[in-house]
This record gives sequence, C-alpha cells and structure tokens, in this order.
Amino acid sequence: RRVAVVFGGRSSEHAVSCSTAASVLAAIDRERWDVVPVGITRDGRWVLVDDDPEPLRLAPGHVPAVDGSGATVVVPLDTVDRSLTVLEPGQPPRALGDVDVVLPLLHGPFGEDGTIQGLLDLADVRYVGSGVTASAVMMDKAMMKVVFEAAGLPVGPWVAIGDREWLRDPDAALARTEALGWPLFVKPARAGSSMGISRVEDTDALRAAVEAAREHDPKVVVEAAVEGREIECGVLEGHGVEPPRTSELGEAVVVKGHTFYDFEAKYLASDDVRLDCPADVPEQDAHRIRTMAAQAFEAAGCEGLARVDFFYTPDGEVLINEINTMPGFTPSSMYPRMWAATGVPYADLIDELLGLALE
Ligand code: DAL
Ligand code: MG
Repeated sequence: RRVAVVFGGRSSEHAVSCSTAASVLAAIDRERWDVVPVGITRDGRWVLVDDDPEPLRLAPGHVPAVDGSGATVVVPLDTVDRSLTVLEPGQPPRALGDVDVVLPLLHGPFGEDGTIQGLLDLADVRYVGSGVTASAVMMDKAMMKVVFEAAGLPVGPWVAIGDREWLRDPDAALARTEALGWPLFVKPARAGSSMGISRVEDTDALRAAVEAAREHDPKVVVEAAVEGREIECGVLEGHGVEPPRTSELGEAVVVKGHTFYDFEAKYLASDDVRLDCPADVPEQDAHRIRTMAAQAFEAAGCEGLARVDFFYTPDGEVLINEINTMPGFTPSSMYPRMWAATGVPYADLIDELLGLALE
C-alpha cells in the first residue's frame, strides 16, 4: 500500500510538523507501506522530499523547514516521476489519486484545520484523522469551547476577542475580560504548540499579549488561568461502531525555567520538563478523565485520533483545555508516548491509524 506522508505547511508549527514527520518516517513499517514523503513549504508549495528523517529533526540550533532551495532535503516535485505531478496550489486535487491513503502530519492552520481534509475529500482520497468539520472547529479554541459547553463538558471561564471588535474599541474588548480575574492566558484562537500564547497578570501586559496573539490570528481567546496539573489523554477511534479507545494519561510537569508549558519547554529545553506517563492520578479520577476524553472526541465528531488536554485541579476538578486533532508525534510529544504506555508501540500506532483510515 502506498501512503503519502504530508508535512511542513504554512502554519507557525511548520518545524514541529517536520519533526513529527521525521519520527514517523523513521518508525513506519516499510514492509507494509510504500512511503511518499510530500513536504509543503512555508509559502505553500508542495514538493517531494527525500525519504530521510535526519534533516527534519527539531533540536536546539536546528529548526527544520521544507525549503524549495534546500537541495539536501527537497527534490522539486516536477523532476520526479511518481505520479504525483501536479501539486502546486491551485492545481486540480486529483493529483494525489495514486496513493491509497494520505497521512496529513500537519499541525495548525492550513493542515490541521480542515483545509487539506477538504482538498482530499474533493479528490476522493482517504486520509488519517478527522474530517473537515471536526478539524476546523477544533482548530479554533473559541469554537471548540462552544462545542464542549454545548455537550455539557466542563471548560474554564473564557472570552473571545474578534478582529473587528479589537480594531473598533480595544478598551471595550479588554473590559469584557474583567470578570475572568488574574492571571490570564491569552491565545491565538487558531495556532498550536503554545505559539503566540502569553500568561499575563495586569492590564498593560494583557493589551500587549492580545497584540502578540493577533500576530498569529486576528481572533484571540482570553482564558482565566486554571491552577491545576496539565493532564493529557490519547484517543483512538474504535473499529466499526466500537466506542473510542483511550490511553493511559500523561502529564507534562514544568520543572524549571518556564511559567507554563511553552514552545521552548515543549521542543527545545527537554531538561526543563518532565513527561510522566502514566501520570500519577488516582484510579477513579483517571477513569473520569479518560471517559471525558472519549466524550470530547465524540462531541467534536473527531475521527482517527486526537489528544485531549485537561486541567486537573488540587480539589479533583477536571476541565477540558483543548483537543488536538493532529497531535505531535515528535520525540517530546505525549501522544505516542501515552499509547506506548498503553501497549501500542509507535510503529503499531501508525499502522493502526492508517488501517482506520482505510476501513
Ligand atoms: N500542536 C502540537 C503539535 C500538539 O498538540 O502536539
Ligand atoms: Mg493545540
């Protein structure tokens, strides 16, 4: 079977996506899968990439990119005859018709947000993960909360600030956040890997944080900071009509140098974070969190996979922070780690995801 592994992309998580792809390319079972690595450059060009994980790894001092000029990494698509010849933006999407399945390892807008899913639906090509609606809605942290609230799932207090509202009257927009108290988290509605996120404690910092978040997305979400542990749960779609499967829980514990689990801590400063898996959570609460993860997956209409992130407060309250419909698969990512701890090693997990997409 032939799988197109698609990565890179136009979002700020380009390098993270490359790192995810590096791990997947290194682990995928080559006996079962004929792999076609397809990179998307930061400006949206699709190129065939050398099937070599090494240059794609993210490390301090090495931020990988699919770069049309990086001769060691990238082969211009039109020089290679692999039936994938017309992938420039604006070309007919049928170009991917010769693969059995696409593994869209894209994080953030233009990939995790329903756009490539729509392209592949149009082309009638199977792909791993959620479809258009779940991908789009779960990419937007405000829309996501609306769905969770409607499903009766607990989320913390929040306010969204739209582009026009901010441009019209920023003071009025800030006034709407007053009921949230301090400190606050300010996030671009559509981004990931903690890009553009700030934790703030006063109005001046809040204003600056909204501007910083707006660099990523003109829509911004302001959340009351929840005092609690960051607990994550992996979800895998069930086979047929079986309910979703949930993994052992993971916990990211920031041990030094960061006020929260930020980009640095996630990908560059591995000594500053401890990834505990299984997380040390009492059995009953762990069960409750896993049940909520499956409920969130269903409420969102997710397919294939998702990682659900929670806050777990000292008095045992559980709030949903967010869902990621294409969680990272990097060496410091929790999703594959949680499945490994649940008895599904990395290569089997990739196999399982591709199998679900082909069901
Ligand atoms: N957005 C990153 C890739 C994650 O959720 O793992
Ligand atoms: Mg995310």
